[in-house]
Amino acid sequence: MNKMGQKAKMVLEKDFKISEIDNRIYGSFIEHLGRAVYGGIYDPGHPQADENGFRQDVMEMVKELQVPIVRYPGGNFVSGYNWEDGVGPVENRPRRLDLAWRTTETNEIGTNELMKWAKLVNADVNMAVNLGTRGIDAARNLVEYCNHSGGSYYSDLRISHGFKEPHKIKTWCLGNEMDGPWQIGHKTAEEYGRIAAEAAKVMKWVDPTIELVACGSSGRGMPTFADWEATVLDHTYDHVEFISLHQYYGNRDNDISNYLAMTLGMDDFIRSVISIADYIKAKKRGKKNINLSFDEWNVWYHSNDADKKIQPWSIAPTQLEDHYNFEDALLVGCMLITLLKHADRIKIACLAQLVNVIAPIMTEENGPAWKQTIFYPYMHASVFGRGVSLNPIISSPKYDSKDFTDVHYLESTAVYNEEKEQLTIFAVNRHLTEGLELECDIRNFDGYEVMEHIVLENDDLKQTNSAKGTPVAPHSNGNAVIDNGLVSAVLPKLSWNVIRLAKRK
Ligand code: AHR
Repeated sequence: MNKMGQKAKMVLEKDFKISEIDNRIYGSFIEHLGRAVYGGIYDPGHPQADENGFRQDVMEMVKELQVPIVRYPGGNFVSGYNWEDGVGPVENRPRRLDLAWRTTETNEIGTNELMKWAKLVNADVNMAVNLGTRGIDAARNLVEYCNHSGGSYYSDLRISHGFKEPHKIKTWCLGNEMDGPWQIGHKTAEEYGRIAAEAAKVMKWVDPTIELVACGSSGRGMPTFADWEATVLDHTYDHVEFISLHQYYGNRDNDISNYLAMTLGMDDFIRSVISIADYIKAKKRGKKNINLSFDEWNVWYHSNDADKKIQPWSIAPTQLEDHYNFEDALLVGCMLITLLKHADRIKIACLAQLVNVIAPIMTEENGPAWKQTIFYPYMHASVFGRGVSLNPIISSPKYDSKDFTDVHYLESTAVYNEEKEQLTIFAVNRHLTEGLELECDIRNFDGYEVMEHIVLENDDLKQTNSAKGTPVAPHSNGNAVIDNGLVSAVLPKLSWNVIRLAKRK
């Protein structure tokens, strides 16, 4: 039942700006893992495959999401990957044991194929280099292979592989989760800091226009968290632009109030990393800010048990295939809002991942592609959340949960697109039983009217979507209205809302 009673207020001002949003904040991730690549984006035997073997139904969905950048090829996978295995004639490419996921990698898809796919879906690529089993030599060679125009060994090798134009990859990750004992070639912060600095130096000597992401912690719960960031940045401050953050959540205790409050922990995590980056800047008497790349974030826990039963060394098995329910979509909405609230320092973020593996898009073998519940908040933010992130003044009733205090029932933020003269409010009502009456004062947005109030709601928190149908899908029947500069709306209990306003023409 949707009882009324809770009220929340918000003020939005054009000049209360957090920052222009870097579009890369809506990035995603494709790893050589499970059915993400093989059976996901690439499936030459599928009726929807194009001449490259890429599934066109998947590409259409990726385009719907307007994914600006995809991180590739891992993830844990990259720490054992020889990029040379994935280029040149496909028939000559070796099969390798992937020790990260205990599968067999066929190398049918590699750097050039992925770049081709990314171009077809209008996405850039955030390329990770292997700092687990490899080092600075392989890293600089890959930059030369991808970005140098020609006249050198590796750039000419790319040209001989049929790619005359350089790929011009701008964003690069210096390894992946090197703080994790599970990582192939796991390192101490000192060891990683040194190799990351040296790799960064030579990668930029090959192409000074690239931007680099150093590995931060694989999660806020890591025992080395904070010291890791400080040590790594101490070594790399002069050579990198970003430090990474990774975080996954799950409703393991089936406690929805606590689950939806987990973004308070995410917010703390972000603030802590900003503090550490600024401490190192101060220590170095530096001029530049190190920004944040939240390059793995999502819900991940539904598939944990199933993954223990995977046959070792199989090819593209069903792995990390979380089937997301309605409550997961609400948490993803809260995570997106949290990222936007830090748009001044978070310039890259990647929903991990994009297809089949902890993903918004799923594929059936010989069947259709379908949209998970989390597809929708991610799409709404990516499509309507371009512009300036505003700093809303919010007053909301609060609650305490198992791990968090003073949790706002209203989780909200807004994005102003100056060029299109559009204002979009993203809001989650965390209340379990009551609708939230929102009053939003949009003061100096003169002449704005409500275009649409999108709502994602469902009476069953555990409802999932499938190839047979999408019972969790948004509708546009929200009741937002505007009167005299005051937007009023009822946000149904446990709902994700997108209130779209635009200047009257
Ligand atoms: O996204 C799945 C895995 O999660 C990635 O490979 C790894 O970086 C992280 O632990």
